[in-house]
Amino acid sequence: MLDGRHLTMGIETSCDETAIAILADGREVLSNVISSQIDIHKNFGGVVPEIASRHHLENINGVLDEALAEAKVTIDDIDLIGVAYGPGLVGSLLIGVATAKAISFAKDIPLVGVNHMHGHIAANYIEFKDLEPPFLGLIVSGGHTNIVMVNDYDSCEVLGSTRDDAIGEAYDKVARVIGLGYPGGPKIDELAKKGNKTAINFKRVYLEKGCLDFSFSGTKTGVLNHVNRAKQKGDDINTADIAASFQEAVLEVIVNKAISAAKMLNQDALVVAGGVAANSRLNDMLSERCKEEGIKLYKPSPILCTDNGAMIGCAAYYKMKKGEISDLSLDAYPGLEI
Ligand code: KG4
Ligand code: ZN
Repeated sequence: MLDGRHLTMGIETSCDETAIAILADGREVLSNVISSQIDIHKNFGGVVPEIASRHHLENINGVLDEALAEAKVTIDDIDLIGVAYGPGLVGSLLIGVATAKAISFAKDIPLVGVNHMHGHIAANYIEFKDLEPPFLGLIVSGGHTNIVMVNDYDSCEVLGSTRDDAIGEAYDKVARVIGLGYPGGPKIDELAKKGNKTAINFKRVYLEKGCLDFSFSGTKTGVLNHVNRAKQKGDDINTADIAASFQEAVLEVIVNKAISAAKMLNQDALVVAGGVAANSRLNDMLSERCKEEGIKLYKPSPILCTDNGAMIGCAAYYKMKKGEISDLSLDAYPGLEI
């Protein structure tokens, strides 16, 4: 407690960001420290799990000290510890979970295990103070692409999922094919601004009529084939046009399916979450379509879209309010479902 306010610490280590945040009363961010390992993993073209967990271990105490100092609190002021326990890389998750359990045990602070994907959705509660479930959600991240009905702070019904690659994964793979390196999403986002989005007509995959599932591997293979053909013919490869055209193809499908879901379910709001929600073209397309259709669009600012501790702290706060406290048997669960 600080000045009568409830303080939550949120810990996130599911992939390659070591992140800890302190929140007051669940939704106000006092600090949000994110130590990214991008510079290390980019040398390998992607996240190397063993290296990621080792770096989490090296970084986490420093990130913890910084989060407390920035929030101008001490560990004794903390009322609740939330930690992402899945889905993610097992070795990475374990560092966050072990840290959270150690603090909880040593300082006798309640502990809450949080589903990382519920955390992504919760980023919107931080950004939009009046937002409350139920609402229609669109999750677009490195490991997930889902249309969901968010029924409560800690429960969602999945209406659509990807049948192959997640959207962020497709971005990262296409970036590698056109030589942009890791992480591909933000690089394609930037490069696409200089390209022509109608230059190449990559496949838009809608699957069966009315279906809310996704499939991106065909479009990704289309990019690979386009690049290989150009190389064989000795043609110049315009990476900006490829980036813009690929992005247009996959985002068009995502936006159309999200809008159809809103219409099918009679929803007048759409809440977007996950790393790819930071994409500028997705933002423009969704803003335009939602405006046309009279749907209110919620989307966190980019720093809250990608992995961070604040979203985990917020989700933990609402689980605690429902009495869902974890005990020290909490373990990493890499395959945890939404
Ligand atoms: O949600 P997130 O931080 O981690 C997971 O839970 O997966 O998402 C990471 C993904 C990566 O694939 C990354 O390339 C993508 O989000 N991403 C973006 C952008 N920023 C991050 N994709 C497209 N445009 C962006 N601006
Ligand atoms: Zn994530």
